Amino acid sequence: MSNLDSLDKIVSLAKARGFIFQSSEIYGGLSAVYDYGPLGVELKRNIRNAWWKEMTRRHDNVVGIDAAIFMHPKVWEASGHVGGFNDPMIDDKQSKKRYRADMLIEQYIMKLDKDGKEDKAKEIQELLDTSGTRKSLTEDLYDIIIENEIRSPDSGAFDWTEVRQFNLMFKTQFGATSSEEDGVYLRPETAQGIFVNYKNVMDTSRVSVPFGIAQTGKAFRNEVVARQFVFRMREFEQMEMQYFVEPGTDEASYEEWLEKRLAWHKSIGIREEHLRTAPHPDDKLAHYARAAADIQYKYPIGWQEVEGIHNRSDFDLKQHQEYSGKKMEYFDQKNQKRYIPYVIETSVGLDRLTLMVLCDAYREEEVDGDKRVVLKLHPKLAPVQVGIFPLIKKPALQEVAKKLEMELREEFSVQYDESGSIGKRYRRLDEAGTPFCITVDFDGLDDDTVTIRHRDDMSQERVPLDKVADVIRTGMNNWKPN
Ligand code: GAP
Repeated sequence: MSNLDSLDKIVSLAKARGFIFQSSEIYGGLSAVYDYGPLGVELKRNIRNAWWKEMTRRHDNVVGIDAAIFMHPKVWEASGHVGGFNDPMIDDKQSKKRYRADMLIEQYIMKLDKDGKEDKAKEIQELLDTSGTRKSLTEDLYDIIIENEIRSPDSGAFDWTEVRQFNLMFKTQFGATSSEEDGVYLRPETAQGIFVNYKNVMDTSRVSVPFGIAQTGKAFRNEVVARQFVFRMREFEQMEMQYFVEPGTDEASYEEWLEKRLAWHKSIGIREEHLRTAPHPDDKLAHYARAAADIQYKYPIGWQEVEGIHNRSDFDLKQHQEYSGKKMEYFDQKNQKRYIPYVIETSVGLDRLTLMVLCDAYREEEVDGDKRVVLKLHPKLAPVQVGIFPLIKKPALQEVAKKLEMELREEFSVQYDESGSIGKRYRRLDEAGTPFCITVDFDGLDDDTVTIRHRDDMSQERVPLDKVADVIRTGMNNWKPN
């Protein structure tokens, strides 16, 4: 079992072992922005590569692109982000803190439920669900807060501003002089880079519907409620795939991708009981979606979305057709018909995924009266896959260990370590999630063997030098979460 009841232990380990640091820490940090250290960058890259391999190499009708972060400002008008990518926010005038109005109400409902006031909770839930139908969305949310005297969670004050819509996109300027026309946005999702390249890809690659385009890259959102470590950030990385299908086949394709994506999360070693799917009710769908479901993980902060699967219909391509004046139709030669394809989207946040992988791998165990912290990562994701230690600093042992390091590093990520006791070296690499540690000792010099110590059960085996790579390879392929 994981022993995580909060994110604190992950935050501390991530910092202490060089996985994740707060951005600009020496200046006091920058809120909701994080940097990846030497172990973090390897872990994140391994996860990204696993996703890329799954989506592109294992699907011969999915190709990749890498679109720019800056896009023509019209893209964001067409996509609905300029008009609609807003959160309703309310400020506590006393503490000057800003809150998502709907979340404030949801928290209040949860508290009522906990206090046994289910009837009142139900009544307010209904009002929340029908917000926007009485006056405007902002006014309806404001009325609920005021009429129920919902207080500020931090200051306890009841001194609110109006509810205002707050756009989540970052805007910046092109060129030396700034005018409104030069304004460009940092993309809030990578998906639009795929939609605007859909024609280019069709015209240049030998794809036909159904086909997909995959992309990984940075996205930016001026999140207001930006806490919870790398779960909700202002700069983050997305891995998205848009799958273009014939209208009418969209529902089956949506179900298929939902199933495939859930299976992939299990394949990277996440324990089954910590994953679930949660369809969005129709009245909670995003403006572009016909159907949507979250793949959720049981984080220490509760069940939360790690990935979204959306049936976006022909919304985006139609919008881009209208705003750009360029035809977005697909011509089905076999059946001699034209249509705008529907799009099934799979969208996962790489940072949220990395956090999930760390949380699921984290264990505290008692070994001989001491606490062992170990990351039981899937060996294929581990930032350091193999540790190589000479038992002590003696040239005869160092020479064999160094030679083995040179051989293995062509295939695995390897770390050579000769400092401290063997026990300390094991512990260091347990915290880095290293699945195999190899010790070269004097007995082995006589019979060309080494000891391989396995991270998960700490078992050790004596292996001939020329079989080391085989044992590691087999261990990697047969690994199961435990
Ligand atoms: N193109 C669809 C789209 O962007 P989304 O549900 O807004 O959908 C998809 O985002 C995924 O991106 C989420 O499931 C989450 O993993 C990640 N994500 C979204 N906002 C994030 C943030 N502020 N910080 C970290 N990850 C985020």
